[in-house]
Amino acid sequence: MNTHSVDNKIDIDYRDISFVVNAGEIMRLATGRWVSGDDFVDRESELRVLDARVRAGNHVLLTGQRRMGKTSIARELGRRLEAQGWVFLFTDVEGATGEEDVVANLAEAVHPVRSVSSRFATAMRGFKENVEEFSPLDFRIKIRAGLNAGNWRRHGGQLIRDCAAHDQPVLLVIDELPIFLKRVLGQDDGARRVDAFLSWLREVVQGLDPGSLVLILSGSIGLKPLVQRLGIPDRINHLDPFRLGPWDRHASVKCFQRLAESHELPIEHGVADAVYDALGTGIPHHVQSFFARLQEFTIMHGRDRVTVEDVNTVYRTALLGPSGQNDLVHYETRLKEGLEDEHYTIAMEILAEAAIQERFTRSARRCLEQLYAPIVGDAPGLVADILEVLVHDGYLEDGDDGFRFPSRLLKDWWSARFRDHYIPLEERRGRP
Ligand SMILES: Nc1ncnc2c1ncn2[C@@H]1O[C@H](COP(=O)(O)OP(=O)(O)OP(=O)(O)O)[C@@H](O)[C@H]1O
Ligand SMILES: [Mg+2]
Repeated sequence: MNTHSVDNKIDIDYRDISFVVNAGEIMRLATGRWVSGDDFVDRESELRVLDARVRAGNHVLLTGQRRMGKTSIARELGRRLEAQGWVFLFTDVEGATGEEDVVANLAEAVHPVRSVSSRFATAMRGFKENVEEFSPLDFRIKIRAGLNAGNWRRHGGQLIRDCAAHDQPVLLVIDELPIFLKRVLGQDDGARRVDAFLSWLREVVQGLDPGSLVLILSGSIGLKPLVQRLGIPDRINHLDPFRLGPWDRHASVKCFQRLAESHELPIEHGVADAVYDALGTGIPHHVQSFFARLQEFTIMHGRDRVTVEDVNTVYRTALLGPSGQNDLVHYETRLKEGLEDEHYTIAMEILAEAAIQERFTRSARRCLEQLYAPIVGDAPGLVADILEVLVHDGYLEDGDDGFRFPSRLLKDWWSARFRDHYIPLEERRGRP
């Protein structure tokens, strides 16, 4: 990718032109999947920090709010390191139901590195066939069939050690690990298994030659709150935390401008800034979705350019409307995956209050604690834990006058969802 030439083009001052012409490189619109290469915007300073940590051999815990671009930055980092002689292995374990699945996923990721996959397969299963005769998925299935509760630790450890012994340095990204752990937690003997899994991973990784294999664990559910809740915070103390924040105005505007150029969508001066102002914060996915909705709007209404007024119309009618609700569902689902049922209900109470009342104040917090005290025991402790998750996951931020949504879009979504039947916490005091 040629980021610098893109950057140079973006440095053009658009104030004197009423619309942006197609400037060359095409940036595809992405409103769901991760992005990399020419579709990947900005994040240069974050990539520099991650690159330095990985080269120094430090394992990383990559966190950040939903849709912030964690998967994309991990993939982009891997792509750039690959171009410099590293091996990049990526696996998403969101769908894994047991430890054996995680090891099988790792095997699938390793499959293209023939020297490693062949050695591993031969040692583990005595493969007669050559591993190149299998697709990565078939390879996964074969390996999975040989794994069970008694041997995944040994084989998984061997696989990671085989990767580290490879003659090129290896970056291994395990994405959505906290979702997998949360699932295990809900199964038989869950807390012990989560502990055993994290202890195993730490032991294997710490036994490797420094710099031979670097691990990045990432996910949109906080791993830290999870291990804290289980009383085992030291299981992840070998990981260097890195939190991915939102884009600033400049980067959000740059992304929007590049999309407009690539899609030859004429935009009036001020439109990209108005998009940032409407969103309140630069969550990359929201910038891209906004562009997609504006593009649809211009087509549907036969417009020849996007105006600042259109930005506000589309915000209200499309982003907050039915199509935007799909995105909201994603946030709700992830929240549900990260919290136990009762905690989820309380989290929704807090978010509804913060959305409709603009903030979740100290006195609202006391009311909530009183409300839930008869059902949950240590209500203040529980509310504190949930707030920690909501802040950690980027829904809310702590301020002098209470907790607020940094994202206007998220706040408006939540308030649209609850507005019609919401009674503020302080008004519920003393009600039956
Ligand atoms: N650097 C970037 N440049 C352009 N668009 C981006 C960038 N990072 C993220 N996006 C946008 O955000 C969307 C989500 O990105 P990604 O899947 O990487 O985020 P995530 O934090 O992993 O999300 P989730 O919490 O759902 O796992 C992408 O489809 C894309 O629209
Ligand atoms: Mg992701």
